[in-house]
Amino acid sequence: MSEAAVSDPLWVQLAYLVAAILFILALKGLSSPKTARQGVLAGAVGALLAVVVLFFSGIELKNLALILIFLAVGSIVGLVAARRVKMTAMPQLVALFNGVGGGAAALIAVVEYFEVGSSDLLFLIFTVATVIIGSVAFTGSIVTFLKLQELMTSRPVVIPAGRWVTILVAVATIVVGVWLVVDPQDWLLVALLILSSIFGVLFVLPVGGADVPIVISLLNAMTGLAVAASGYVLGNLLLLIAGTLVGASGTVLTNMMAKAMGRPLTSTLFGAFNGSTAGSTAAGSDRPVRSATPNDVAIMLGYANKVILVPGYGLAVAQAQSTLRELADLLTEKGIEVDYAIHPVAGRMPGHMNVLLAEASVPYEQLKEMDEINPEFSSTDVVLVVGANDVVNPAARTDKTAPIYGMPILNVDAAQQVVFLKRSMRPGFAGIENEILFDPKTSLLFGDAKETLTKVVASLKTV
Ligand code: TAP
Repeated sequence: MSEAAVSDPLWVQLAYLVAAILFILALKGLSSPKTARQGVLAGAVGALLAVVVLFFSGIELKNLALILIFLAVGSIVGLVAARRVKMTAMPQLVALFNGVGGGAAALIAVVEYFEVGSSDLLFLIFTVATVIIGSVAFTGSIVTFLKLQELMTSRPVVIPAGRWVTILVAVATIVVGVWLVVDPQDWLLVALLILSSIFGVLFVLPVGGADVPIVISLLNAMTGLAVAASGYVLGNLLLLIAGTLVGASGTVLTNMMAKAMGRPLTSTLFGAFNGSTAGSTAAGSDRPVRSATPNDVAIMLGYANKVILVPGYGLAVAQAQSTLRELADLLTEKGIEVDYAIHPVAGRMPGHMNVLLAEASVPYEQLKEMDEINPEFSSTDVVLVVGANDVVNPAARTDKTAPIYGMPILNVDAAQQVVFLKRSMRPGFAGIENEILFDPKTSLLFGDAKETLTKVVASLKTV
């Protein structure tokens, strides 16, 4: 470990303390949609402070010009990417940023190994940990990015003897890591980098469909740990604190997501090896369904006493949140009870529906979490499912081969009538058929959700 942490001037240590507090405030802010913006701002100010302080801390910076150039390039790329990304493509961007963080931590550890030497046992242990975790996070995140961007199949990929190849690579990685600590040699470090990068790919390939976001969260937690370990290697206390915060919060989020999907994390990660995520693909879209016109839907809604709106990924694609709110307001004005049912993994990122509906200024009190709303469906006249599919699919209860099997769902099938707003008979993210679409009490209003909702609103005004 370098002496930097102990030899930093007092003002630098104080600035790092302020940055660390800002990071904690960021996490606190992010725990509620109401304070999320302030949270993001606190985190950004903390990160800026940490970077600026480094330049004035008295540490001798080699290659200053290069550092400044890459800082500028990285900032511009990050800014443009974050501003241009569509809300629906956010998980891919997170995966990419996360992977870059893990890769950077691994490379820093490699550089530091060659710069500082290899005498200290603890330094070597942390170097090995950073290289392994950082490389796995890097290559694993790249594969999740490719899956979510649909540059490769998002279904589980099981290579021949996949389980055994993965175990072999994992064991080889550990053996080389231990060997490096006991008998440091440069080629072992290179071998460790390669083996852990391969393990990252093998680790993520069998994860498919709806489980990919959980893996992103897990890899994010791993990047945090890699950064914390690199904080030790570099002797930088702030990196250690920030990395630990990311590692801890990422682990909590991973657990919460696995719970929301109703399955243990091990089944998410290794399920494909047992064939449990093979799933049944959509077939039979030639079966008859009942389609409705905007006017039919307006009449159904207008004569209901109680309506539940179920938003999903398609609402985000159509950017129909304001129109949905307009519909809800109109129904409320008519004396109809209206609630929004929010499934924890609706959309494509945690809290996606909350953010989307907050954009349309839907009051938080109208958003009901799954456990709260599920008992309400049986006393509901009409459920309007707007661009959601997997989160209401009963296959999660009944079809053991379905990739979403075990995930708690919104029990829309308990309502009197169900209306789906979607463009076609295509399945949702998990790629499986939804039996409710063929239920006699279900009507389908085909088209882009914004267009169809606008027509329903117009018709409702005349009902
Ligand atoms: P999905 O199951 O993906 O279904 C989305 C539906 O929206 C589809 O049926 C699609 O049908 C429809 N749609 C798409 N564009 C539309 C448009 N412009 N207008 C109207 N409909 C449109 O969504 P969900 O029910 O929200 O479930 C989320 C899924 O994503 C789950 O499997 C979840 O595990 C996974 N996932 C979640 C996250 C998180 S953390 N939230 C992250 C990544 C993945 P058409 O194509 O026929 O229109």
